[in-house]
Amino acid sequence: MSSTTTTSTSSSTSPLKHQPSQATPQENKQIYTPWRLFIYDIWVLGIVSTFAWGCRISKYLIPLFRLNIGKNHLDIGAGTGYYLNHAQIPKTTTLTIADNEPHALNVALARCTHPPNQTHGIVTDILQPFPFPTPKKEEEKFDSISMYYLLHCLPVPMATKCKIFTHLKKYMTADGVIHGANVLGKGVRKDNWFAAMIRRGCLKHGVFHNEQDNAWEFERALRENFREVETWVVGSVFVFRAKGPIFD
Ligand SMILES: C[S@@+](CC[C@H](N)C(=O)[O-])C[C@H]1O[C@@H](n2cnc3c(N)ncnc32)[C@H](O)[C@@H]1O
Repeated sequence: MSSTTTTSTSSSTSPLKHQPSQATPQENKQIYTPWRLFIYDIWVLGIVSTFAWGCRISKYLIPLFRLNIGKNHLDIGAGTGYYLNHAQIPKTTTLTIADNEPHALNVALARCTHPPNQTHGIVTDILQPFPFPTPKKEEEKFDSISMYYLLHCLPVPMATKCKIFTHLKKYMTADGVIHGANVLGKGVRKDNWFAAMIRRGCLKHGVFHNEQDNAWEFERALRENFREVETWVVGSVFVFRAKGPIFD
C-alpha cells in the first residue's frame, strides 16, 4: 500500500475509514490482476469503450462525472482510478474510493492525485445490504456517488443489481446525486464484430455478467429510488444520473 493510502486511511475522521467488507474480498477470484490493471486505461477505456461499445469516455462519461461531483464524493469500483484523475475533482472535495478488490483499490489510491488528507479508501462489497457504517450525521452522508463500468461486472441477477440503488440511498444527502454507466447485454444495438469478440471473451472469462442487463429495468429501479432521473443509451452503454433519494 502506498504512503498515500496509509496516510489517507489512518488520519481521516470519516466514519468510513478502515471499514472492512462484510464479505471476504481476498477469497474472491481476483479479476483485476496487476497485468489487467496495467493495460486497463488504454485497452478498456480507450479502445474497447470507443470502438466496441460506441461510448467514447472523454466525450460522454468524463463530462458527466465532472459535472456531478459534490463536496463529499464516493466512487465505487475505482479500477485504475482513471476518472478520479481526469475529472478535475475540486481539491476541497472529500473523496472516498470503495472497491472489493484490495489490489484495485491500492492502485487507484496510489495513482490518485487528489490531496491525501482528503482521500479515503475502503474495501467493501457493494452487493452487501449495508456496505458502509450508518452515517450518524447529515454531514457524513455523500452528496455524490459515482459507479462507472461496475454494474456489468457483478455476478448477480438484474434484480440484485437494482437493489444497490436502494442500499446506497441510505448513505446519501437529501439532494445527493448518483451517476454512472455500464455496458448492456439486452435490448441494445447489434454488436459489431469487434464488440461481439470482446463480449464473448468477457462473458467466457467471468469479467462480464450482463446478459440480462437492460436499460428499462435499471431506469425503473432508479425511478423507484430517486426523484429526478435522467438516462441515456450511448452505443451499448447505459448512462444515468439520478438526484434526490426517495426515503420511505
Ligand atoms: C470495470 S472496473 C471499473 C473501473 C472504473 N470505475 C472505470 O470505469 O474505469 C470495475 C471495478 O469494480 C470493482 N468491483 C467489482 N465488484 C465489486 C463489488 N461487488 N463491490 C465493490 N467493487 C466491485 C472491481 O474491483 C473494479 O475495480
